[in-house]
Amino acid sequence: MFEFRADSDISKNYQLLQGAIDAHLRDEKNLIANLANIASFIYTALPDVNWAGFYLAMDGELVLGPFCGKPACTRIPIGRGVCGTSAEKGEIIVVPDVHAFDGHIACDSQSNSEIVLPLFIKGRVFGVLDIDSPMFDRFSQADVDGLAKIANSISRFLEGM
Ligand code: SME
Repeated sequence: MFEFRADSDISKNYQLLQGAIDAHLRDEKNLIANLANIASFIYTALPDVNWAGFYLAMDGELVLGPFCGKPACTRIPIGRGVCGTSAEKGEIIVVPDVHAFDGHIACDSQSNSEIVLPLFIKGRVFGVLDIDSPMFDRFSQADVDGLAKIANSISRFLEGM
């Protein structure tokens, strides 16, 4: 399993992680298997992450999908919390301090910062990729750039299903 190298720069690490995920998406076509392994790739590779996984849009709400970390809330209305806000706006949301985000839904009390990236099929939100950290301000612009490319790869895979 790929892990970030402490002696390498962050964008190089993301290139390696992206390569591992792209190879996986090429070789396997099952959605649940791929989302499960991508959650594990991210959870295992990124330092200081305590939850990584997916919520999938179904009938006007987000339903918990494959993830790594502690058990989480199973349903989030679109527009609620960080995940529901990202799904509603179709935008990446970075929250440096979850305690300062109005409406944040706390699943793991150890989480202090969070990033949520929407996934699309032909312009419509299919779900979100959610990553939590026990560190405040964990997600830098380099993380946003690296994770946005991973989210794009997942969206391309979804469109090819
Ligand atoms: N914090 C998220 C809920 C999901 S958990 O972090 C896994 C939110 O506010 O939408």
